[in-house]
Amino acid sequence: MQTQINQYIAEINAFSPANADELEAFRIRFLGTKGIIKELFEQFKSVSPEEKRTYGKVLNEFKQLTEAKYAELKEATDSGLKTEDSGLDLTLPGDGFAVGSRHPLSLIRNEIIDIFKRLGFVVAEGPEIEDDWHNFSALNFPEEHPARDMQDTFFIKKNHGKDDIALRTHTSSVQVRMMENGKPPFRAIMPGRVYRNEAISARAHCFFHQVEGLYIDENVSFSDLKQTLYHFVQELYGEGTKVRFRPSYFPFTEPSAEMDISCTICKGSGCNMCKYTGWVEILGCGMVDPNVLENCGIDSAKFTGFAFGMGIERIANLKYVIKDLRLFSENDVRFLKQFQSDII
Ligand code: PHE
Repeated sequence: MQTQINQYIAEINAFSPANADELEAFRIRFLGTKGIIKELFEQFKSVSPEEKRTYGKVLNEFKQLTEAKYAELKEATDSGLKTEDSGLDLTLPGDGFAVGSRHPLSLIRNEIIDIFKRLGFVVAEGPEIEDDWHNFSALNFPEEHPARDMQDTFFIKKNHGKDDIALRTHTSSVQVRMMENGKPPFRAIMPGRVYRNEAISARAHCFFHQVEGLYIDENVSFSDLKQTLYHFVQELYGEGTKVRFRPSYFPFTEPSAEMDISCTICKGSGCNMCKYTGWVEILGCGMVDPNVLENCGIDSAKFTGFAFGMGIERIANLKYVIKDLRLFSENDVRFLKQFQSDII
């Protein structure tokens, strides 16, 4: 009997079912109503009284071992865990969680903010629904002046018969709010969404995103503007990126300029992106017009300053070569998941 039980124990220890059916067969064979254990207990009845003590213990231990083994295997099978024989390696790491990625415009915006933060600029924000004063009049757009047509505006409400409330066409409106509500010096950038009444196409959209900047203090000159923006471009596109300033016009700056950089795609040798000129325009800038300072309650005899503004879709386009603006707002995950960031 002892030899027989030892054989069974060896068999049980080595047992490893590939599936639930094999485990059930095991149960029936050992623990079933006509199973081996039942049978051994039957035999036990007829052993001599002296032997009963030894075999009673042996038999009980065997029964416990078998039940414990069965319970353990049953739990593993029920919880879906298969034993090694099923070919699954339970030590493999699990599937990772799917984490999203930052939107390319957020990546660019954060990068721009970081560069200006290192220069001591703070971030300022304002409302997307603006009044005429903050979006136009305070910024030296005279009434009926054609400059207002430069920015096709979505007006949403009339006041005293006049178009007054609009979706902001630029974040320069935040500059006005900042100047009205504080005292110079100011050193801030204004990221945000802006709206213009344009037909949607690959090259134009009815909304886009800007980062504008404002620096007001005593003795701020055009050379400060040039150096700041030059530094910005070196940080964003790498050392050696060339810049050039072309005279331009904005109602709120005088003098005004547009800034081009050497094409980041072809490095100036000429390509599709720069229309074979080697240069691409990235922002508008200029010295804040004294009228704007006075409109906002700042002494223009004492303070001067510069401002600049850029559309960040354009900046992202030059960095990632995205030919169609619409991709930025269509939320196609196949597009979005290509932009992985370190920051999660
Ligand atoms: N507000 C201008 C625009 O939206 C950009 C700009 C800002 C130009 C500041 C000059 C100075 O086009």
